[in-house]
Amino acid sequence: MSPPLAVLISLCLFFGLPGSASCLYKQWVPDTSFENATNWDKGVVPCGSDKVQFLADRQVSVYVREVHSIQEMKLPVNGEFILASGAGFTVGGGQDGSCGTGVTVQFRDSETAKWFDPALWRAASSSEDLDKGRFLFSVHEESVPCSHDDVVFRPDTSFRVDTTAGQQSLRVKSVSVLGQKFRENAGFSRYLASRSGRLQFHGDAGPVVGSPACDDSSGCDCGNSVHHGRICSGMDCPRLDCTKPLRPVGHCCDVCGAILHLKISGRFNLETYRQRLQHLLLHPQYKAVRMGVSKVTMPQWLLGVIPREAATEIQVVLLDEEGLGPGTVAEDAARDIMKDIQSQGALFGIEDAELQASSGNEGTGDRAGVVVGAVLGALALVVSLVVLGFLFYRGVIRVPSLPSLPSWRKNSEIGELGGPIDHGFDNPMFNKPSQVPGSGGLFGTDSLSTITVTDLGVHFVNPAYDETNFNA
Ligand SMILES: *[C@@H]1O[C@H](CO)[C@@H](O)[C@H](O)[C@H]1NC(C)=O
Repeated sequence: MSPPLAVLISLCLFFGLPGSASCLYKQWVPDTSFENATNWDKGVVPCGSDKVQFLADRQVSVYVREVHSIQEMKLPVNGEFILASGAGFTVGGGQDGSCGTGVTVQFRDSETAKWFDPALWRAASSSEDLDKGRFLFSVHEESVPCSHDDVVFRPDTSFRVDTTAGQQSLRVKSVSVLGQKFRENAGFSRYLASRSGRLQFHGDAGPVVGSPACDDSSGCDCGNSVHHGRICSGMDCPRLDCTKPLRPVGHCCDVCGAILHLKISGRFNLETYRQRLQHLLLHPQYKAVRMGVSKVTMPQWLLGVIPREAATEIQVVLLDEEGLGPGTVAEDAARDIMKDIQSQGALFGIEDAELQASSGNEGTGDRAGVVVGAVLGALALVVSLVVLGFLFYRGVIRVPSLPSLPSWRKNSEIGELGGPIDHGFDNPMFNKPSQVPGSGGLFGTDSLSTITVTDLGVHFVNPAYDETNFNA
């Protein structure tokens, strides 16, 4: 990777810059590497006394990283080996007995791997996260590359992918193949027409690179709803055992768990809020909970019948154990997030939040917007009272000395300035523990008070490195 790119990615990572929502990487999982045991019908890489067979009528591009000794090899009619430096084949090793008596090992058919199969992709916020295995969960439509995503085929592998997309074109921001990153379509078309390109990509159309990055820090709609049928075709949805299964926007199957629908204002930053949620879910109790956060477009209906301009919202999907569990732990997590939104949501640009739970228990407190509004109202009242008090103290405002002062004080001033709501001005930047309702959030007030919100994003002390928190 070139140094400027590395710097840019780190900036995206650490500061949640505007536009950092564009930093999503989608990596193709299968490969056609000689060394990958899953590519052989016996589940092991052939060795010195084995005969190797490729299906004659299949096209394949095979990446070879090491030197292999084999007895015999039957090649396909159309194929290639991409040899890493120092890699190759020798014939007739294996007499040392470590390989057994020798069998015929066949390379598996790689023809059926489809671009639109959500199970064949992994997503991460940065290429560093991809390398370290820090993957993001997403709904099915977004598991497949979105138009503003960077697509990565692992550098030291080859692959074969069916990019059939019907009438729709398959647009992405960039594609990296064998360590080479294509950002412009002219260059990538030339690669697609090359020998390797034709063996790696097949189907009615190749991907088109050069789509713009997502430049909206509150996130971008993935744009894969046009491919919904193709993405969901052939998917086996699991049987569920919750009372009210939910269907997240962009997902192929119903799930047990919870969905939060967030209405946001202009200051919302998707990456910053994703980090906030990841922090909230660090609690050991929520280890198996999977979370997917995305901006989705909801069709709106006027009076239930006339289609209106579509509205966007942030959808947070929470599942236990890949959605196969009963969903109750995910629901607890969702309620904790609702509590967090009630106390802190306004700081993150969340105007309204609604919870849908698969248990069907959607009692009171599942709408946060009203409460957020009330908190803001109370805050405004307190601020004006403090300003008034300050002006009064400095002598800018004087209370006229009325004869009936004692009873006047009793009726209004004591009731407001001296009353229970007079906390002074709570600066939200300092995240006063008493603002957190109930048990004080997920980690008790200690860890919440280590989170600060600035214009650049959220900075917090990772409780995983703070030995005091998990003992609570
Ligand atoms: C081998 O291929 C499988 C799936 O095709 C993939 O999940 C795995 O990561 C590959 N193994 C290596 C070592 O690359």
